[in-house]
Amino acid sequence: MKYIGKEMSRVDGVAKVTGKAKYAAEFQVKNVAYGFIVQSTIAKGAIKTIDVAEAEKQTGVIKIYTHLNAAKTQAKGNAFAALQSDKIVFSGQPIALVVAETFEQARFASRLIKATYTEEKAQTETLKGETKTMTAGRTRGNPAEALKNSAVKISAEYTIPIEHHNPMEPHAAIAVWEGEKLTIFDKTQGVMGVRGHLAQSFGLKPENIQVISPFVGGAFGCALNPNYYPFLTAFAARDLKRPVKVNYTRRQMFTGHGYRPYTWQKVQIGANKDGKLQSIIHEAIGNTSSFEDFAENPNGFGRTLYECPNYDTPYKLAKTDLPTPTWMRAPGMVSGAFALESAIDELAFELKIDPLEMRLINYAEKDPDTGKPFSSKALRDAYKQGAAKFGWEKRKLEPRSMRDGRWLVGWGVATGIWGAFQVPASVKITLKSDGTANVGSATADIGPGTYTVITMIAAEFLGIAPDKVKFELGDSNLPQAPVQGGSFTTASVGTAAHGAAMAIKQKLFDLSVKEGNFSGAKADETEMADGFLVLKSDASKKVSIADLMKKNNLTEIVETFTARPSAERSKYTTQAHGAQFVEVKVDEDLGIIKVTRVVEATAVGKIMNPKTSHSQEMGGVVWGIGMALQEATEIDHRYGRMMTTDLASYHVPVNADVHSVETAFVEEEDKIVNPLGVKGMGELCQVGIPAAIANAIFHATGKRVRDLPISPDKLI
Ligand code: MOS
Repeated sequence: MKYIGKEMSRVDGVAKVTGKAKYAAEFQVKNVAYGFIVQSTIAKGAIKTIDVAEAEKQTGVIKIYTHLNAAKTQAKGNAFAALQSDKIVFSGQPIALVVAETFEQARFASRLIKATYTEEKAQTETLKGETKTMTAGRTRGNPAEALKNSAVKISAEYTIPIEHHNPMEPHAAIAVWEGEKLTIFDKTQGVMGVRGHLAQSFGLKPENIQVISPFVGGAFGCALNPNYYPFLTAFAARDLKRPVKVNYTRRQMFTGHGYRPYTWQKVQIGANKDGKLQSIIHEAIGNTSSFEDFAENPNGFGRTLYECPNYDTPYKLAKTDLPTPTWMRAPGMVSGAFALESAIDELAFELKIDPLEMRLINYAEKDPDTGKPFSSKALRDAYKQGAAKFGWEKRKLEPRSMRDGRWLVGWGVATGIWGAFQVPASVKITLKSDGTANVGSATADIGPGTYTVITMIAAEFLGIAPDKVKFELGDSNLPQAPVQGGSFTTASVGTAAHGAAMAIKQKLFDLSVKEGNFSGAKADETEMADGFLVLKSDASKKVSIADLMKKNNLTEIVETFTARPSAERSKYTTQAHGAQFVEVKVDEDLGIIKVTRVVEATAVGKIMNPKTSHSQEMGGVVWGIGMALQEATEIDHRYGRMMTTDLASYHVPVNADVHSVETAFVEEEDKIVNPLGVKGMGELCQVGIPAAIANAIFHATGKRVRDLPISPDKLI
C-alpha cells in the first residue's frame, strides 16, 4: 500500500487553523436576521401567559414567535419540537424565539419577555422515576442459581452522573428559502438525517431541501439526531421571507440537545476460587425524559467479553422531567465497562489474582453470547503488547504497595469493546483525464480525520497522489451516507470509496480489453498506479489511463458505488477490542489524582492512518479522564434544573490534566468486516479508560470509588 497505513497530516488541517474552514454559523448570507431562543424557568407545567409587548417594541426586533404563533411541525414521533404547545416538559425548554436585525438586539429583547406558568412538581431524580422494563439481551443459562452456588461472590453498585458533550462549536443553523426550496447550513453529524427531519416537519420533498455542513467543531453524539433548532430557524425564515440564523449560547448547549444519561448499575459476579466466572447479573437503570425513550443498553457491554455460562442483563428506563438523553461518545459501552470492569477488578482483588491474569482466565475464544466465531480478535495480543509497553509485570499485587515520594502509585487495567459496524453508504468518484479526481459523499467529519482518510483510500485505489483527490462531504446533494457516528464511517464510506474506484477500474479495463490489452486477464488482476492500468503480476503490461480516455473521447469517468455490509459478516461477531493500562498518582492528604501514564493497545483491523488514529486514541483517553475524575452535570432537584451549565462549573480535562499517552496498534487481517479490513476506533479508545483509572486508584489507595466522578472529596 502506498498511502494506506502510512502517516498523513490532515488534508483540511491548514483550512482549519487559518480560519478558512467555515462552520455553520460562519457562512455569510445577505440580509440575515438573528434569532435568540428564550427558555422556560420551570421544569414542568404549562405557560399561563406570555407577554412579548415590551420586547416587541425594542429597536431592531422583527418578530417574536411563541407557541401561539409558531408553525406546527408535521414530523411524527416523540422527539421534542419547539413552540408546539403551552406544555413545559423540562427546564430550559424554548418558549419563544426573538428575531431581530442583530444578535445583540434579539438577546436584549429576549430578557423583556415575561412568562407566567401553572407549575407542577418536577421529578428529576432517576432512581425515583417511574420505570419501564427494557432488556439488554436474553438470559444466558441460569444466572441466579449459578450465583447462589458460586464459591466467591461480588456484589457492587455503581453510578454515573449526567454528562454533557461540550464540543467547542455550539449548534447553529442558517436557513434560506427560495420559494419552496430550503437551503440550511447546520452543525450536524448527518446532513441526510436533518434533510429527512425537515422534509417531514414541513411536508416537503427531501429534494427541495439542501443541508450543508462541511465542518463540524466537535460533536461526540450531540449532533447525531436533528435537534429542535433547524425547524425553528427554518420556519421563522419562511415566515419572514428572509434568512434567519440561530446560534446556541454555551448555556443553551446544556439543554438544547441530549446528554449522557444518569446510570445506576449493580453487578453481581459468581466465580470459582481459580477465578473462572460462573455467573454475571449486571443490572442497569438509566434516565430518560417524560416524553421519549432513550435506551443505550449499558449493561449489554460484557455479554460478548467473557466466557461465562450464566449471564443476565436486566435494564430499565426511568422517567425524569429532563430533556431526552442522547448518544455521547462510546454510549452505553463506556458506562457498562466502568461497572463491569471495576467489578472484575474487585473479584481479582478478592481472589488475589493479578487483574490482567483474571481477564485471560476468562478470555472468550468465540462469542459466548451467540457461539459465533469472531471475524478477528487480537485482544490477547493487545493485552500482551500493552502490558509489555506499560511494564505491567513490575506491578505489586497489594494496594498501597507502590509509592513515588509522597504520591501513592496505582496501576489499573481494563478492556474495551466496540462493535465493528458497517452501514450502507454511497460514494461518487469522477476521474478526470487530467489525472485528478473528485470524490463525494454526504458523510461528515466531526474531527476524526474523515476528509483525510477517504482521500487516502481514493488515492490508493485510483493510483493517483492524494493531492490530486478532492473529497467533498457534508452536503445533502452528495450521494447518500449515514451520520458520522458509531465509529462506522471509515468502514462504511471508505468501503464505498474503494468500491467506486474499483468500478472505475473495471470501466478502464473493459476499454483496454476492447483494444486488445490484458488478454485472458480479469479486472481483479490489474490495478491503477501512477496514471496507468497495470497487470499486477507483470508491471510491464500497462496502459496509460490518460491515453485510453483520450482515445475514447472521455474527459471523465463517473461512478457511484453503494457499499453494504456483506452477507458473510452475519456468520461472525464483528468487534473491535482494546486493552487499557493506566498509572495514577494520588496525593493522600489532598485527594488529588494525576493520570500520569496511559497505554492504549487496540486491535481494530487495519490502521488506515497511524497519525489520525493516534489522535483518536488521545481523544478517547482525555474523555476517559474527564469521565473518571471530573465531569458531572449537577442538577438542583428542587427546581429540576441543570446548574453547571458553563465551562467554568462543568469541569473537563485541560492540558495540565493529561500526561503520557502511548498507543500500540495490534493490526488484524480481517477481510470479513469489509474489503479494507478496517474497524472503527473513535469510541473504542474511551471504553475501558474510566474503569482502568478507577482500578488504578483502588490499587494506589485501597479505596474503591463506585460513583463517578472520582473527585478528591471521595478519597479523603
Ligand atoms: Mo458517536 S456518540 O456515535 O457520535
